[in-house]
Amino acid sequence: MALPNKPKGELKAVRDPEVEEREVDILVVGGGMAACGTAFELKKWMSDDQSVLLVDKAAMERSGAVAQGLSAINTYIGSNSPDDYVRMVRNDLMGIVREDLIFDLGCHVDDSVHLFEEWGLPIWKKSEDGKNLDGKKGQKMGTLKGGATPVRTGKWQIMINGESYKRIVAEAAKLALGEDNILERVFIVELLLDKKNENQIAGAIGISVRENKVYLIKCKTMMVACGGAVNIYQPRSVGEGKGRAWYPVWNSGSTYYLCMKVGAELSMMENRFTPARFKDGYGPVGAWFLLFKAKALNGLGENYVGSAAAKAELENYAPYGTAAITPTCLRNHLMLFEMKAGRGPIIMDTVTALAEIGKTMDKKELKHLESEAWEDFLDMTCGQANLWCATNTEPEKKNSEIMPTEPYLLGSHSGCCGLWTSGPDYDWVPDAYKWGHNGKVYNRMTTVVGLFTSGDGVGCSGHKFSSGSHAEGRMAAKSMVRFVRDNKDYKPEVAISAKEAVDIAYKPVRTYLDNAAYTTADDINPAYMKPNGMMYRMMKATHEYGAGTATYYLTTSKNLEIVMELLQTMREDCEKLAAGDLHELMRAWEILHRIWTVESHLRHIQFRKETRYPGFYYQADYPQQDDANWFCFTNSKFDPKSQKWDTFKRDYIKIIPD
Ligand code: FAD
Ligand code: ADX
Repeated sequence: MALPNKPKGELKAVRDPEVEEREVDILVVGGGMAACGTAFELKKWMSDDQSVLLVDKAAMERSGAVAQGLSAINTYIGSNSPDDYVRMVRNDLMGIVREDLIFDLGCHVDDSVHLFEEWGLPIWKKSEDGKNLDGKKGQKMGTLKGGATPVRTGKWQIMINGESYKRIVAEAAKLALGEDNILERVFIVELLLDKKNENQIAGAIGISVRENKVYLIKCKTMMVACGGAVNIYQPRSVGEGKGRAWYPVWNSGSTYYLCMKVGAELSMMENRFTPARFKDGYGPVGAWFLLFKAKALNGLGENYVGSAAAKAELENYAPYGTAAITPTCLRNHLMLFEMKAGRGPIIMDTVTALAEIGKTMDKKELKHLESEAWEDFLDMTCGQANLWCATNTEPEKKNSEIMPTEPYLLGSHSGCCGLWTSGPDYDWVPDAYKWGHNGKVYNRMTTVVGLFTSGDGVGCSGHKFSSGSHAEGRMAAKSMVRFVRDNKDYKPEVAISAKEAVDIAYKPVRTYLDNAAYTTADDINPAYMKPNGMMYRMMKATHEYGAGTATYYLTTSKNLEIVMELLQTMREDCEKLAAGDLHELMRAWEILHRIWTVESHLRHIQFRKETRYPGFYYQADYPQQDDANWFCFTNSKFDPKSQKWDTFKRDYIKIIPD
């Protein structure tokens, strides 16, 4: 149930909050695209005697990466084939991907898109004479399911009027589950293993960010879909712009933290995404490159991407660099190449692009085209539209600068870090890629029994985007219901009491209350540290040593050694985090989730002795790709018992031929 917005100011935290204990069959953590897919699908397969609870840290209508809306659905297979989808993702992610997961997703993703349209999402259509029709005009052409043709920007992407995308998807999820089975504004801080079965999930601890209340929830199976990780590096936006980032600021790495802490295996955590975006407003570039056919120019006004030097550079990364579509990391690499050679900044030539398209248009159509250019941002990154206003930028008259952002971790967009999960139970899926419990395979289950993930959580398989994350959440839902049915007699038991759950969740509050009176300045105290200070500390370390923007994404073995030591000290110091109000308590947990997440990222970079993703990061001691030794997955596991990490290789198996 949604709680009303808080009154003015933050709610002070108390030493002894209320505790609520719950027990359900299925717990869904997160309320984003993947979790909404799970919620919708669960209700179709659950029997009446099975129970479910969904917990989102925010309000589902506007939570997660789709909060502001989107202007395109980036994965719609349509008349393409799932095999080709695998080839595209494999190429974009430099060869090392789980083809079973990608193929499986490619077979199901369109069904989610058809549902979105049925639920009211306007999808642009082509008219009989090949014109683009958006909004109501597009709807008149019929539905995609009924055979209408979408407006393709690239081979995989279709245009939508998507300002209310998340509201539409959340409404369907809420209707399916029922408000009584949903907790909003509750942040899950830790997961709990079963008391008797050491590698089986049994529950979670959560804090309300609107009431002084802790939740201890027991469950038989759990979906963790809390998105990716943002603000683990010093963002390019500082000062008055701070708080602006491309990926949603509230996705704090919880997916990776929560699962890794109970021993789930992570994969490809070295992979990151540093998207090229409109500078300072973080406006996405996809529509400009694909729909408006805009070119990026270097500071000398040259189309550097088409230059002989760029082609020669890309040859070094064949077969990916020489493919028809240059992988996302290499597109960034070319930008950085220009900037480092002193030919920056990089400019999106919006003026020429709009003039070119406008040539065949009458006045009314031209006006509509200009509105589309604005709507692209108003639909999903309205800050960019604001920035255009503030800087007197009319895209048909003035070009805009683009720039690779600070690094983000995610597994559903153009990145592939995440959890190592089982694939589907088909005969063509290699044994090494499927597992489960008691001889049964459960698709999208992590290596912890009963613990599932989807969307940004599933590693080795990017380019799912909003539609694919929803579809993957649905696929996992079916496995989860089957898991509950197959394990009817399992009674989850956790090793801690409700009081101990409070001790864990409210530790920062008690640290604060015990010591705050000692100093006059609330955030300066010898006995504690506020999460805000810790955030700056973490960002400084990763920015300078961990291949942040400070060094053009370059790191070295020595730098990695330094940052790992700094992060370890930070983890120790997190024992003294202090929170005076509920918002700060959430911040305290977020920073802990972020520190662990970025540590796992850097641990993986340290382990992989090559540079697999130039443009996303560079390991200066191993600047090349090394297929002979590193054409494999790099996985890691934190052992909750010994509290030690292990990092190791897993084989890549090619399933779909070139
Ligand atoms: P999210 O949708 O981000 O959901 C994460 C959820 O977890 C949220 O509900 C959050 O509140 C919750 N949460 C986080 N931590 C906790 C916690 N500890 N406890 C409880 N709940 C928690 N895709 C497209 O198809 N087309 C596009 O044009 C497009 N553009 C994009 C533009 C931007 C700016 C961004 C950021 C993404 C874009 N994407 C696009 C990608 C798409 O949004 C993601 O792939 C998708 O949302 C991932 O789904 P998810 O469920 O994994 O994560
Ligand atoms: S968005 O999700 O924030 O809108 P973005 O603008 O990067 O992402 O990309 C949207 C889609 O366009 C993605 O499928 C991405 O792979 C694709 N894309 C973006 N730029 C290019 C490009 N220059 N060439 C080919 N595909 C691109």
